[in-house]
Amino acid sequence: MSSGQTYMQRQTMKSYPLIRPTLPQPEEILDQVREAMESGRVTCGGNVEALEKEVSELIGVKHVVAVSSATSGLVLLFRALGLPAGSEVITPSFTFAATAHALLWNGLKPVFCDCEPHSFTMDASAIEGLITPRTRAIYPVCVFGVTGDLESYAALAEKHGLLLIYDSAQGLGSKYKGQWLGGFGIAEVFSMSPTKVVTAIEGGLVTTNDDILAERIRSMRDYGKGPDGQDMMHLGLSARMSEINAIVARWSLARVEQWISSREALIEHYQERLAVLPGIRFQFVPEWCRSSRNYFVILIDSVHSPVTRDELHDALAEAGIQTKRYFYPPLHHQTLYKENGLAEGVKLPVTEQISASSLALPLYSHMRVDDVDWICDRIVSIFR
Ligand SMILES: Cc1ncc(COP(=O)(O)O)c(C=O)c1O
Repeated sequence: MSSGQTYMQRQTMKSYPLIRPTLPQPEEILDQVREAMESGRVTCGGNVEALEKEVSELIGVKHVVAVSSATSGLVLLFRALGLPAGSEVITPSFTFAATAHALLWNGLKPVFCDCEPHSFTMDASAIEGLITPRTRAIYPVCVFGVTGDLESYAALAEKHGLLLIYDSAQGLGSKYKGQWLGGFGIAEVFSMSPTKVVTAIEGGLVTTNDDILAERIRSMRDYGKGPDGQDMMHLGLSARMSEINAIVARWSLARVEQWISSREALIEHYQERLAVLPGIRFQFVPEWCRSSRNYFVILIDSVHSPVTRDELHDALAEAGIQTKRYFYPPLHHQTLYKENGLAEGVKLPVTEQISASSLALPLYSHMRVDDVDWICDRIVSIFR
């Protein structure tokens, strides 16, 4: 907020964060919380088991393992897959850093693939050109809720004898050709952090139809313990989910359709209001996808728009509206990845262009259409 504003102006100014988690009123879950605390079993108890069963039934996947975050789930998953050190894994650069962090934690090499210009998901047609004798897996990402071309990824994985792992952190609720995400490839991982449509406050889920993999990850979320609880079978982490997180997650999951339809209505309104502005376009949701609508991201083409992405970001911040350049910078421009030599020779023209022009606007399930109007009024006036 600029220091030039008066006290009265500051008092009357609304402010919007990029996201707000939609959570139960404390009274709604108090009885379950009390019961869990009185039972003495406060982690990986009845609520975690119930959550795993509910997700498994909803999305139609055999195994669901609740963990402390998607990041820990991805780290454990790649460890459990046991790929040889130095193996190459093809993944997008236009994603959140945790996607590729999970590879580095496991001594694997991310090979960055370009994204598709309309859906922003990993470009299936660019994958084959990146395959080498060291490639072991294809690892695409659900981008803001939009699923990639899962059939093409699976066909390529099969043709080249590669594993397919899907980072579905943003995709609990998304569907591909009517099928919920969760059962594609060898395994998928969802996030239930506060920024997600279905939230546990903090948490994640690993989903798979593979019995051995599920059992291994179940052990590895609890240090790698064997059945006797003492002998260590695997190198694990302390990555369990608490009962309190599972109670919140079950409340949130039971309302997933409500959250998605309210987000769909808000995005439709945003799009109606913003489509008239020059140089703005929106993420395309292919007809085969039902997006979880985790984020609403616009692209600002500075050739046709009177303001650049960064100018719009700054002007909205001045007006009390938090937006985010997202995903930005792309991973191959981030220090960690550059210092590990993972940017050398990497050419991703679509990723560069999308990442330089994308801006996530405020969106949360309990936002009101009035709020969208207020934000759009500010954007329209900035464009003028
Ligand atoms: C694509 C992607 N992968 C992984 C993660 C990590 O999720 P978590 O915060 O649950 O570890 C996120 C979080 O936003 C994400 O967007």
